[in-house]
Amino acid sequence: MPRKKKQIDRNKYSQCNTKKLFIETYGCQMNVADTEVVSSILKKEGYTPTDDYHDADLILLNTCSVRDKAEQTVRNKLANFACLKKTRPWLLIGVLGCMAGRVKEKLLEEEKMVDLVAGPDAYRDLPVLISQAWNNLNAVNVHLSLEETYDDITPVRISGSGVTAFVSVMRGCDNMCTYCVVPYTRGRERSRDPKTILEEIDVLRSEGYKEITLLGQNIDSYLWYGGGAKKDFSKASEEAKANALHFSDLLKMVAETFPTMRIRFCTSNPHDMTDDVLDTIASHSNICRYMHLPFQSGSNRILQHMRRGYTREEYLTLIERVRAKIPDCGITMDIIAGYPTETEEDHKDTLSLMQSVKYEFGYMFKYSERPGTYAANHYPDDVPDDVKQRRLDEIITLQGQHSFERNKTYISTVSQVLVEGISKKDKEEVFGRNSQGIVVVFAKGNHSIGDFVNVKITDTTQGTLLGEALD
Ligand code: SAH
Ligand code: SF4
Ligand code: F3S
Repeated sequence: MPRKKKQIDRNKYSQCNTKKLFIETYGCQMNVADTEVVSSILKKEGYTPTDDYHDADLILLNTCSVRDKAEQTVRNKLANFACLKKTRPWLLIGVLGCMAGRVKEKLLEEEKMVDLVAGPDAYRDLPVLISQAWNNLNAVNVHLSLEETYDDITPVRISGSGVTAFVSVMRGCDNMCTYCVVPYTRGRERSRDPKTILEEIDVLRSEGYKEITLLGQNIDSYLWYGGGAKKDFSKASEEAKANALHFSDLLKMVAETFPTMRIRFCTSNPHDMTDDVLDTIASHSNICRYMHLPFQSGSNRILQHMRRGYTREEYLTLIERVRAKIPDCGITMDIIAGYPTETEEDHKDTLSLMQSVKYEFGYMFKYSERPGTYAANHYPDDVPDDVKQRRLDEIITLQGQHSFERNKTYISTVSQVLVEGISKKDKEEVFGRNSQGIVVVFAKGNHSIGDFVNVKITDTTQGTLLGEALD
């Protein structure tokens, strides 16, 4: 039974409760997609979204734990929101997402500013949790599921331009990289029924969406064999095994069912990327020539330490395979600077790997120790912060040079761009992305948001291509 906590007679304020919901999302695209699932669940309960938290009767923060800074940002935000209770005593504040399981006691008891806590697999329980919280009961569900994929819930698209959307296809991660909190916050890998994936995309298509990004923490691991955790696949019937669908099958199915839509996917652990996926991209022109392949470190010693499951040489061979099969593929990465025991030599290996590949762009981070992970339990966070920062700065500077160099190679070529919005700097210009994921800005002319336009690239900055529409 949930326990009683501080008493506020919210029923006194029942008429004040206009059921306005304010959700703020932190972290990765999976969280953005989950926020849309939560909005759908709460819409059925009569909640309408608001952009102004001063008006809200329920504030939810969909949180991220991947680095300490992400958690700190949420704590600061919670403290600010808690002040709103002075004028709106009935206000409920909830924490969703990856921080929920990790810090539930602290959030509810020590800091006393949170009324409900729901982990990533507990969103169907939100109506019950909200009602418990309204009645001053501790409302917590952080149970991680082996089955939940929210496959029957049609997300309410509250973010974005109405042109591109995320579609979640699998949840969880079984890889257990030593530094990473995701397997603890998101649980085991499980995949979504392909039938419901196609149905969701069909709804998006009929609403005018032009591009979808298939999402999973470890998407190349997608495996549909009738439902259930990937770890239990070996126990499935022979028939289920024979009919199992892998990520390349799903990708092909989506690309062929929706030939007028553009398709992206993320995130791939290089270890799980197969030739079947590369061949599927190569043979379908509506799958974007884009791949995110985080490598984390260029040093074999560190890669082994991290339990990434590949060596530097294997990673570089994969890049060669990508470029042989998909010559115009844009490749991006993630790097962690200053992982425990990282030496100057290891760091140089990271810079030299970047030199060999020359990525389109990248997401670069300082190592942040996450309590409970294998690395936190076994290796002291022994690279001093100023050294981590200097290494990160060197990585970022080098990547800036590479992005600029790569962008220059697009000058005089033609990119197909999906128009996503009006440029903030100039209302007469529009922006969108080419197949490789690079932002392109050009004169609006007669073009509208949602159009595919052939654009001749005429110039570039470090991050953005500039061009002229040919159509
Ligand atoms: N599944 C993806 C990554 C998901 S997490 C993959 O394996 O490639 C997104 C990124 O956050 C990671 O690629 C990593 O670069 C970074 N990250 C994860 N844990 C981190 C930590 N403890 N400190 C710093 N960065 C971290
Ligand atoms: Fe984290 Fe590794 Fe899983 Fe990526 S593959 S989410 S880095 S454990
Ligand atoms: Fe963060 Fe959770 Fe995504 S830890 S990066 S929101 S999976």
